[in-house]
Amino acid sequence: MTSHDTSLQHTIAALAWPGIVIGCRRIVAGDENGLTPEEASSIHAKVPAARRASGAVRILARELLVGMGLAPCPLPKSTSGAPSFPPGLTGSFAHDADFAVAALAKRNAVVGLGIDIEPAGPLPPDLLDVVATARERLLLGREPQLGRLLFVAKEAVYKAVNPLDGAFLEYHDIDVDFAAGRAQVRNGRTLGLRAAAGAHAIAVAVVAV
Ligand SMILES: CC(C)(COP(=O)(O)OP(=O)(O)OC[C@H]1O[C@@H](n2cnc3c(N)ncnc32)[C@H](O)[C@@H]1OP(=O)(O)O)[C@@H](O)C(=O)NCCC(=O)NCCS
Repeated sequence: MTSHDTSLQHTIAALAWPGIVIGCRRIVAGDENGLTPEEASSIHAKVPAARRASGAVRILARELLVGMGLAPCPLPKSTSGAPSFPPGLTGSFAHDADFAVAALAKRNAVVGLGIDIEPAGPLPPDLLDVVATARERLLLGREPQLGRLLFVAKEAVYKAVNPLDGAFLEYHDIDVDFAAGRAQVRNGRTLGLRAAAGAHAIAVAVVAV
């Protein structure tokens, strides 16, 4: 394990949430071959790096399934883009250029789940304007390094909520309160939220039962 990987492990440990299994995998050449035929035909991306990342996250997810005492199975993309899971299970995937992350949970523990990962680092000022609400900008004024965490938090919320509600959300439709560990969506949903950063910023958003 490289020191980079150790940093990611620490970040993931900081996201621990009862009933949710979270894992990471470094994306390596050949991971695209980890896609099952059903998954391969559900993923329309032609770019090799994108197919490799989708393979990596599904290799990881099957390892997590085995760790949960469940049988590994195909996890194809649905028409919305979200991954599909067998009955009784929910989850979420994300990848950046180097790492894939997955979060899985049994549906008796969690209704909806979202995860996102990005290399850590400040958010460009023009993107910050797009992502942060006025209240969040006040908070970020005091802690500017929170910009990247805010970005991954809102992407994680979208991934948790979109499969449940089918709604497209803008960044300003989501209000994040890191101190309370909560995100509020304009459509009325409240989600639990964990976010942490080392070399990478990762967030997990949870719609509780
Ligand atoms: C879903 C979305 C946020 C993914 O972000 P991304 O930076 O492209 O990619 P990530 O690596 O973070 O995540 C990719 C994974 O997201 C998952 N995903 C894709 N669409 C999804 C959806 N509608 N719901 C839940 N998960 C979804 C897939 O599992 C995908 O992995 P796969 O292609 O290997 O199956 C983005 O594609 C999108 O649809 N954005 C529109 C909505 C938005 O961004 N609004 C502003 C934020 S609120």
